[in-house]
Amino acid sequence: MKDLIRLRTSLSEEIETILNEQIKLEAKSSATYLAMGGWCDRNGFDNSADFFYAQAEEERSHMLKLYKYVTDLGGRAISPEVNNIPQEFTSFRSTFEDALEQEIKVTQSINNIVDRCHKVKDYTTATFLQWFLNEQIEEEYVARRALELFDVIGEEGVGKYMIDKNISKTKYKG
Ligand code: FEO
Repeated sequence: MKDLIRLRTSLSEEIETILNEQIKLEAKSSATYLAMGGWCDRNGFDNSADFFYAQAEEERSHMLKLYKYVTDLGGRAISPEVNNIPQEFTSFRSTFEDALEQEIKVTQSINNIVDRCHKVKDYTTATFLQWFLNEQIEEEYVARRALELFDVIGEEGVGKYMIDKNISKTKYKG
């Protein structure tokens, strides 16, 4: 019976499981960005709040892309439970440090999945995930540039105000 069920999908059990873990990680990233946006909003950093809200939307779209891929291949995508999202951050800068750390974690996680895909010869999923690896170049770039603003502008005086004002200019040009 189990084998018959597996015939409905070309995804191996292992790849389906790690894709579901990635779905959860993207959902967690989305929820964390939302919390970062809220923190920035509460502390008067309106542009940074918008920056994080937009990131939250992007992460949700990543989650959905993976979710649909699993279902399109006949697999069982699991709507993730997300908990333990930090609601408070120690400083304005720390929200961006956490954001970069989160993006690096996501890149490593996708790299690990691609690695597994090659090992089990699931080239379809490896090719599908190439889009995510390209996306991560942009996401890490933007997170690094945003964080650099803290060093370039400095936080003293009107520094934080200027950082917030310039945050939306951190675009990836490819
Ligand atoms: Fe979807 Fe920024 O990782």
